[in-house]
Amino acid sequence: MTDDITLHIPGPIPVEPDVLAAMAQQVRQHYGGDWVGYYQAFTERLRRIFATGGAVYPLPASGSGGVEAMMSTLIGNGGRVGVIANGFFGDRVLQIARAHSAQAEALELPWNRPADPGEVRTWLRRTRVSVLGVVHSDTSTGVINPVAEIAAAAREEGVAVAVDAVSSLAGMPVETDAWGLAAVSTASQKCLEAPPGLAPVAVTAAGWELIDRQPEPARGWYLNLRTWREYEHAWPHHPYPVTLATNNIFALDRALERILAEGLEARFARHRAAQQVLRRGLERLGFTVLADARWASPTITVAYPPSGTSPDQIVQGLRSRHGIAIAGGLTQLAGKVIRVGHLGTQAYPEKMQRVVDALEACLKELSAARA
Ligand SMILES: Cc1ncc(COP(=O)(O)O)c(C=O)c1O
Repeated sequence: MTDDITLHIPGPIPVEPDVLAAMAQQVRQHYGGDWVGYYQAFTERLRRIFATGGAVYPLPASGSGGVEAMMSTLIGNGGRVGVIANGFFGDRVLQIARAHSAQAEALELPWNRPADPGEVRTWLRRTRVSVLGVVHSDTSTGVINPVAEIAAAAREEGVAVAVDAVSSLAGMPVETDAWGLAAVSTASQKCLEAPPGLAPVAVTAAGWELIDRQPEPARGWYLNLRTWREYEHAWPHHPYPVTLATNNIFALDRALERILAEGLEARFARHRAAQQVLRRGLERLGFTVLADARWASPTITVAYPPSGTSPDQIVQGLRSRHGIAIAGGLTQLAGKVIRVGHLGTQAYPEKMQRVVDALEACLKELSAARA
């Protein structure tokens, strides 16, 4: 393995030296007075990022662990759930929903457009689910689903909304309380600018209300957010059920301080500016960006290369000759697209310009090799 490759894949991302240093400190006790005070300040910072006054749990897990905790707890044992499936990660939420309920419905949509709130409403009236799962920014397509509008429509139909914000939180607005969401899950290794290992999940009062009136509660223990709530209240010296990933928390906390110091609005503008540099550059080089500009994610761009050029060769050439890692497509987009992350520390216009310059050089190299 080499350190010479700069990660422009859609997560994980390079982290700042002070975040790495925070991770490298000596292991501490994860319960008792000192730690619990620190932990409360950490979760308060997380709440600010989620824009919620609700509960926040930093699960030691990858992003999928957080999504499973959120979905399984909201679904309960065998509850009725719907999922918007318009990308690889929407399909994953669906697989998770199906693992927890035989009554899981999918709103299957093409991968190149968001769900329309009107069609979601019509579908919810037909399916009569209690919970709706949706991915905010699908990392496989770079398409944003309009979560605020979908949640407003769902609320009017009495449906609680659970959001996979793994590649959106801290890179674009996510207003957990103001949008009336039941729960939101994310991961430490994307716009939160920390190493992989934590899956913070937020649950609002609306989420608990649904959870508390389920005919049959969820069956799991570790990923059951009821368990996390129980310990939060019953064990003040150890307000979580398990040993926490303390060093991951030190790193994430340092990153949260950075994020709050920068300011969320400034960050969102920075992500958008980086995205635009990349999009314009790709278009100039003859790529076709999958997502229309109206719903393009500020954190990931997915694009078809100019005709006659293989995306896999671009990915390889960028890595071997330019020291830049980008990603290829997933499942139905495999061998068709490239994916570039502009998440957190990647999301600077000048860094995106470097990626565009490397892509330009790589296209020339590939065409010279073909001649
Ligand atoms: C939108 C989205 N959801 C879920 C996941 C799964 O996260 P993890 O690989 O950390 O389990 C990812 C990972 O890229 C993602 O981008």
